[in-house]
Amino acid sequence: MALKPMLFSAVTFIIAVTSLVSAQTMRGNSQAGQSVYQQHCLRCHGKQLDGNGPDSRDLIVRPTNLLSQASRAKTDWELLVTIANGALFTPMHDFRGKLTDEQMLDVMAYIRSVAPFDRVS
Ligand code: HEC
Repeated sequence: MALKPMLFSAVTFIIAVTSLVSAQTMRGNSQAGQSVYQQHCLRCHGKQLDGNGPDSRDLIVRPTNLLSQASRAKTDWELLVTIANGALFTPMHDFRGKLTDEQMLDVMAYIRSVAPFDRVS
């Protein structure tokens, strides 16, 4: 039985998630986030965050337009989960381990400064 490794990854996941949740009450730094974005996200999500980055043409699954109503209606938490874990079977890989929690919060703050949260009423 592979119970032990499963339990281990479940525990690691919970620790990672709770550290992000508790960190969410702190605001990221959007200026620092802009340079994280330019370095790691722009080639797919584009300069305007509209999903038209230089690499987007070559991808089978198009990068999300982060300005779209659908993305703006998602909570920071929902978007952070995708940033940290990636989206399965798409070019959006996971950034956990590549970016620090702080860098993920920073890039989240940058995204929100350009595309503020907007829940459709
Ligand atoms: C190699 C291309 C690529 C890179 C680099 C990339 N993304 Fe993505 N991203 C995607 C794709 C493709 C999707 C859409 C996945 C889907 O449709 O399920 C996506 C989805 C997302 C979503 C989910 C949006 C939503 O509405 O659910 C967020 C948030 C996101 N990316 C943020 C980022 C951030 C922040 C970075 C940089 C740290 C980044 N991405 C880097 C390709 C990329």
